[in-house]
Amino acid sequence: MRTPLVAALSLVAGLALAAPNAPAPVEADAQAAKPLALRNIMRELGGNMQVITDGISRGDWALVEQAAGRVADHPQSPVSERLRIMSFVGTNAGKFKAYDGETHSAAEAVAKGARARDGETTILAFQKLQTGCFNCHREFRKPFVEHFYGAR
Ligand code: HEC
Repeated sequence: MRTPLVAALSLVAGLALAAPNAPAPVEADAQAAKPLALRNIMRELGGNMQVITDGISRGDWALVEQAAGRVADHPQSPVSERLRIMSFVGTNAGKFKAYDGETHSAAEAVAKGARARDGETTILAFQKLQTGCFNCHREFRKPFVEHFYGAR
């Protein structure tokens, strides 16, 4: 039953690709802003969270430990971008950094639970980790996207 949906989707994608290259309206320029390095860092975090979920399901604790380690020690934006971000978050910089710190500690706790092959501890820590991601997103993600990409 998947084939017709896939076919329909590729058709839509094909049509979108075939659209003529009309000149972009002025507002579209802001929306085509170069993505922040942060966005890629976030995507990697998302991928590692999926690996953790998969590792927990399969009881592959070595995999969980590795992926949680990558979440805890995720790369940072380059200095120039960090300055742009800090100047945008302004007086909320402390909060922003605190959310990052919370996710870091929670990811370390996930790694520690996995190292001990303690499923329950790992899962509880993973829930905390997800809450850390969620809390920062709830507060900062929309304003970031609006500010840095001009999208609404
Ligand atoms: C300190 C704040 C903060 C924390 C903590 C945080 N994020 Fe994000 N996240 C953001 C911001 C800001 C954006 C929007 C970035 C952008 O669009 O350039 C974002 C966007 C994302 C995106 C969407 C990227 C895209 O393709 O548009 C994903 C996925 C993501 N974060 C995953 C995570 C995961 C998983 C965690 C926890 C392990 C996490 N984030 C923790 C601030 C945070």
